[in-house]
Amino acid sequence: MTSIPEIFASMAYGPAPESTKPAEAWLERHDRTFGLHVGGAWTDPGELFDTVNPANGRVLARVTQASPTDVDRAVVAARAAQPGWWALGGHGRARHLYALARAVQRHARLLSVVESLDNGKPIRESRDIDVPLVARHFYHHAGWAQLMDRELPGMEPVGIAGQIIPWNFPLLMLAWKIAPALATGNTVVLKPAEFTSLTALLFAELCEETGLPAGVVNVITGDGRTGAALVAHPGVDKIAFTGSTEVGRLIRVATAGTGKKLSLELGGKSPFIVFDDADLDSVVEGVVDAIWFNQGQVCCAGSRILAQEGIAPRLEEKLKARMETLRIGDPLDKAVDIGAIIAPVQLDKIRELVEKGEEEGAQLWQPVWSCPSEGYFYPPTLFTGVAPASTIAQVEIFGPVVVMMSFRTPAEAVELANNTRYGLAASLWSENINLALDIAPKLKAGSVWINCTNVFDAAAGFGGYRESGFGREGGKEGLWEYVKAAEGRGRGDAGKYAPDAVGKSRAKAGAASPPPRLPAAAAIDRTSKLYIGGAQVRPDSGYSLPVHDAAGRVAGEVGQGNRKDIRNAVEAAHAASGWARATAHLRAQVLYYVAENLAARRDEFVARLANLTGRSKKQGQEEVALALSRLFSYAAWADKWDGRVHHTPYRNVTLAMPEPLGVMAVVCPEEWPLLGFLSTTLPPIAMGNTVVALPSGRWPLLATDLYQVLDTSDLPKGVLNIVTGPREELAAILAAHDDVDAMWYWGTVEGSAEVERLSAGNLKQTWVSHGRGVRWDSGVGGEGERFLRHATQVKNVWVPYGE
Ligand code: NAI
Ligand code: MG
Repeated sequence: MTSIPEIFASMAYGPAPESTKPAEAWLERHDRTFGLHVGGAWTDPGELFDTVNPANGRVLARVTQASPTDVDRAVVAARAAQPGWWALGGHGRARHLYALARAVQRHARLLSVVESLDNGKPIRESRDIDVPLVARHFYHHAGWAQLMDRELPGMEPVGIAGQIIPWNFPLLMLAWKIAPALATGNTVVLKPAEFTSLTALLFAELCEETGLPAGVVNVITGDGRTGAALVAHPGVDKIAFTGSTEVGRLIRVATAGTGKKLSLELGGKSPFIVFDDADLDSVVEGVVDAIWFNQGQVCCAGSRILAQEGIAPRLEEKLKARMETLRIGDPLDKAVDIGAIIAPVQLDKIRELVEKGEEEGAQLWQPVWSCPSEGYFYPPTLFTGVAPASTIAQVEIFGPVVVMMSFRTPAEAVELANNTRYGLAASLWSENINLALDIAPKLKAGSVWINCTNVFDAAAGFGGYRESGFGREGGKEGLWEYVKAAEGRGRGDAGKYAPDAVGKSRAKAGAASPPPRLPAAAAIDRTSKLYIGGAQVRPDSGYSLPVHDAAGRVAGEVGQGNRKDIRNAVEAAHAASGWARATAHLRAQVLYYVAENLAARRDEFVARLANLTGRSKKQGQEEVALALSRLFSYAAWADKWDGRVHHTPYRNVTLAMPEPLGVMAVVCPEEWPLLGFLSTTLPPIAMGNTVVALPSGRWPLLATDLYQVLDTSDLPKGVLNIVTGPREELAAILAAHDDVDAMWYWGTVEGSAEVERLSAGNLKQTWVSHGRGVRWDSGVGGEGERFLRHATQVKNVWVPYGE
């Protein structure tokens, strides 16, 4: 026993354990054995596996490995429940979500203890952060359910959401998935991670307790095999996944071409940037929250400290002193800062990467104290002298390990910060608001925290840029993941010149007679080149392809683009990235100017349309008129698709800013060769993206005729690049291209699947038509907000203010 004078002398913390009794009682009530929760009731336990307390390695309970048959049963239950859930209406759903929020609050203590037991995270975190945020998420989304009719007019639920979550925030990720899905009228099948099934099962019980209709929430446990079966199930309309980038890629490939909506929230290697005027004491506490929160097992962990040269040594010194005072140990102890690592496999991964860091020459530093010997613990670790290209500076460690590098200038900080495949989050520290707000938009990350870190709220979207995934969770921006245009609205039916009709007329033309060939000399004279970097360039192949008119005669030739031309076009588009920083007003002016110059040449385009498509002159006039209107529309939108300031419950302004995606590949519609081309290239351009476009394959001359219009319209070179040639082949090259940030595809079912499949390499965002036509002549379906939404991504910038 320590005596009171001794305690006074050392001021050491004594243990302050949270009672586990209610949690143990709950487990006992279930005989420490769980079936699945499907259709509002427990199934009999099936093949079982252990779930373990990482703080001591002891088995807490056994849970069921759901089989493909179980997955099917859960999907059937969700489907049966969906129409009724939607029919309840916004207010009806709001009441249920509100009841869930209340239930979470009522059982907050039990939930946080079970969470800490199963996951190993400190009770202080589960009690003060995870569980309150879970309740907040259900409250906030009760509100969206209530307001859905007014705030998302013309939208309906996607249907059945298959949701797969990781082990680092088991209950919080459940809330991020379930709340928006339910608010918007979907029903769900949720699969927790195999290491942490318990709070999801407990939550299922709360659903029962609050009287949520059976089948609205189904919880199935199991490992990756269960997840894969859920992804593959044809009855699922949407997959929402949070987890490793590796599995995210697998899911992208598995869902390619299925028409399932997909959102991915993946890994990160987030920068933590410290400028020399930052308040270093706050910074040190910031680092603690950035990388030692949840043992560093956080997708948006600030795992790369970038410190300005002048203050780097002092920061290092202060950080080491703070690390000595961190307390590691029993997660149920209320005085503990750092809990246990989820499992031995994760511990091994951390150890391996740390060894690699030492091998690669970085200096490792750990506090003098040692970790508990029982359970899976790893000490807080700092690496200095880290080369930006080294493994530990690039690979997500997902543990309490932070690397430190230094920079000289703000520009260098941005470059280092963005030197990663990921783009989930960033935090930056400076007392200079001008500097902070100058840097924030330059960081490629979905969340930017100024003088704060790891702050989350239901009202603000969270999600990645680049290989950190796509889609947002939270905020209004998060709702889009779970809705689609109501049938007969927005999306529209196949137009008059749908792909099918095009296919048939081509077959007819082909069957009639082979198109007569013109003399070579004349043909060369009328060969349109490619349009790359603002110049007309010959295709690398040196070949051209004939373009036929409605009567089957050769009306001209276009360049036959290949891989090299695509590469050049993508490079030109990258070189034009300054377009993103042009003012929206300027972008609007340029688009109006394009309209003016197109109007001046209206007759040529009308004649070209009539000649190629065989449609009447009147129809040609109609298409040109619509094209001009569309140019005006996107000129109008250029400075009107603005963001929001979210009401997050901290002393914060949270700026939700739509930003361009970067370089976008656009495979334009076959039909409506002028209107379709403009309808799909203008929204990205209006939003500040640069574009590589593949025009209509059958009637590309309407796009190549635009070269001169563009040349005279002040569109900066490289903003719009046009490559003609074998469409599907070129589309595949673009889909697989690592420097293309997003891709739109209007074409066949097979082509759509191929684009989605090939996009998995760099996880570029895709938007494909799955062979469906669009009424490009419609002011509802053919233009507007959904195009702008798909041309932008929302960045949330958190700016705190004082007392
Ligand atoms: P994981 O990505 O394998 O697990 C996440 C979820 O996906 C789990 O529910 C798992 O059962 C499920 N899953 C696994 N394979 C699947 C498949 N083929 N189809 C469908 N679902 C599947 O992550 P894991 O193995 O637990 O951790 C590996 C690494 O991933 C970690 O070391 C960490 O670096 C990273 N990670 C990142 C997370 C994040 O939030 N960004 C969360 C968890 C892990
Ligand atoms: Mg566990």
